[in-house]
Amino acid sequence: MTKPHSPAQHAELLRDEIRHHEHAYFVLDTPEITDAEFDKLVNELKAIEREHPELLTPDSPTQRVGGKAREGFVKVAHSAQMLSLDNAYNIEELRDWTRRVTELAGSREVEYECEYKLDGLSMALHYVPAGADGHAATNAALDAGAGARFERGITRGDGATGEDVTANLRTIRSIPLTVSRENLAKAGLTPPFEVRGEVLMPTKSFVAMNEQREEDGMARFANPRNAAAGAVRVLEPNVTAQRKLDFYSYFLLQEGRMARSTQWEALDALSAAGFKVNPHRTVAKTFEEIWNFVSATESARDTLPYEIDGVVVKVNGIPLWQRLGFTGKAPRWAIAYKFAARAAVTQIEDILIQVGRTGKLTPVAALKPVAIGGTTVSRATLHNQDEVERLGVRIGDWVMVERGGDVIPKVTKVVDEGEHKRPPHTRAFHMPTQCPECGGHVVRTEGEVNSFCVNVNCPAKLRESLLHFASRHVMNIEGMGDALVDQLLARGLVHDVADLYSLTEKDLLQLERMGKKSADNVLREIDGSKKLPLERVIFGLGIRMVGERTAEFLAEHFGSMDKLMEASEDELVEVNEVGPRIAASIREFFAEEKNRKLIERLREAGLTFTGERKVRGTRLSGMTFVLTGTLPTYSRDDAKKMIEDAGGKVSGSVSKKTSYVVAGEDAGSKLDKATSLGVKVISESELLGMLP
Ligand code: IVH
Repeated sequence: MTKPHSPAQHAELLRDEIRHHEHAYFVLDTPEITDAEFDKLVNELKAIEREHPELLTPDSPTQRVGGKAREGFVKVAHSAQMLSLDNAYNIEELRDWTRRVTELAGSREVEYECEYKLDGLSMALHYVPAGADGHAATNAALDAGAGARFERGITRGDGATGEDVTANLRTIRSIPLTVSRENLAKAGLTPPFEVRGEVLMPTKSFVAMNEQREEDGMARFANPRNAAAGAVRVLEPNVTAQRKLDFYSYFLLQEGRMARSTQWEALDALSAAGFKVNPHRTVAKTFEEIWNFVSATESARDTLPYEIDGVVVKVNGIPLWQRLGFTGKAPRWAIAYKFAARAAVTQIEDILIQVGRTGKLTPVAALKPVAIGGTTVSRATLHNQDEVERLGVRIGDWVMVERGGDVIPKVTKVVDEGEHKRPPHTRAFHMPTQCPECGGHVVRTEGEVNSFCVNVNCPAKLRESLLHFASRHVMNIEGMGDALVDQLLARGLVHDVADLYSLTEKDLLQLERMGKKSADNVLREIDGSKKLPLERVIFGLGIRMVGERTAEFLAEHFGSMDKLMEASEDELVEVNEVGPRIAASIREFFAEEKNRKLIERLREAGLTFTGERKVRGTRLSGMTFVLTGTLPTYSRDDAKKMIEDAGGKVSGSVSKKTSYVVAGEDAGSKLDKATSLGVKVISESELLGMLP
């Protein structure tokens, strides 16, 4: 940054820089600086604005949370009806739709644009020329570079009128508060304009939020969609801000009409203007191409960081939209292909208790096995006693079981009608007073939803902490699953996670079904885990309330295990997303002599105790790529590195889990496999287009 001359200039430069990083992080998913560095910029700006209140602009990045509590939401009419979509539930219905389109269009050469159907809430955002209206009073403080300003955000409502939820939407950091003149020019756009799209809650935030709600004794949200809907409509923008929502745009309107001649170009313009556009989109010229996108999307569904419930296929050419028109409330030029619901009705045979690594007792429904979205489900979580009561569920009941993006199936309601009438001999569930694993006391503290086994030596806790430590997201020790851990415990070969690092071949050879080759594999995996970064080790310790993300923030902030261990509660709360409760939990953990000894043994074993302050992109996170054939410009290794730097994974073989196959010249069997599995095949240049 060049040296600023006046506070006004300094504030302006900081705002530009903060906006740039907000865009990089929240829209492009490719952070360029650490969270700590980002916070520093914001604090610097806040300090200037405090000292010179006359410089404060309503659209300053410091003003996302207005903090004003209000009585309710004002109803506002939409500029043009917010429509819904007709659905297709199978390939025939989708094909019929394309046939109708070609007939009505009077041409067989219709182009389609395919995109994800995001499972959120649609929203209309209005942008006006910056400085056009009341804000002009603060003219001196007006943002010199801003061309357009976010004026108002409206929920879909009944399609004709919605509710003004502007204050809450302002807290969503992928929604730009201003669009610079430069970006307007890049997008070829003049305000006023309207952006429509979907607000959603990423699965990770949803899971974390529910865990937090459980800790706070509040009811869980059933799915990310409901959680997002709740967050958008709370009367306290502060609360919305904590819910970590995201916004993806898909329509760009001017005077109530699409502002471009194709949907594809409208999305490009939105992206150029700084809005988040889902990179998973394609133009299809034939039904086969549409179907390939649908199939590839369905197989990528479980790997996505948010929930989708289908694919939206739109006619790409906007002039055709006018020709095709509407039926009732839905346009003829678009259709939603809906994936099969990942829910099914089945019966609860029993309710069992699972003891977790923290000693938490979780009631788990043992179900009559049922197929849901390609997998057979025979267990579903009931979370805790309160949830069992809220659902009113009894052993023997028929229930609805859903599997979401967080993969763990859950019971969402009791079904008691028609062929699923409650049977005569159902039984109530009660939380046991003794741990079913060790007979230890079970305690539920006042104000807590969860019950815990208080026996420090409970074998179930040890078993679960070993499984957690070895799991893929933690120390990634392949082969260290239930069967192996149970045997290691039964033979007394391990008593804590540090013992894993002193296992010998001789130890392992005593075990059942363990030959020399598998023993060596396990030892190599254990040894390999020592190279994993500090955040994994912190996560692996199993400190209460410290999940994967918090562990990353801690590693990044302190840079070493020693600094973390010494940190006071005051120092800990300075870390991103660490509040007083998490700080207390961390202090408690490190105050325990037993834990400090364990950490010393992990250090001696050679695990990574210092951190590298590297920022990895997240744009491709959750996606798996397979490279095949000779790429025109990059070597395989370089392409692999680029994908990994953007947060993606590269695998050697194609499966249903593969998100994309990148094919070059002379691509062989992997390409065939991709086609047969319906995995999307892209070229090197398409790959480059997905990268930051
Ligand atoms: S287009 C004609 N595109 O699906 C206007 N909608 O069932 C329809 N949705 O209310 C909007 N992802 O909330 C469109 N990529 C997408 C979408 C999408 C999700 C939602 C939207 C709409 C509903 C219609």
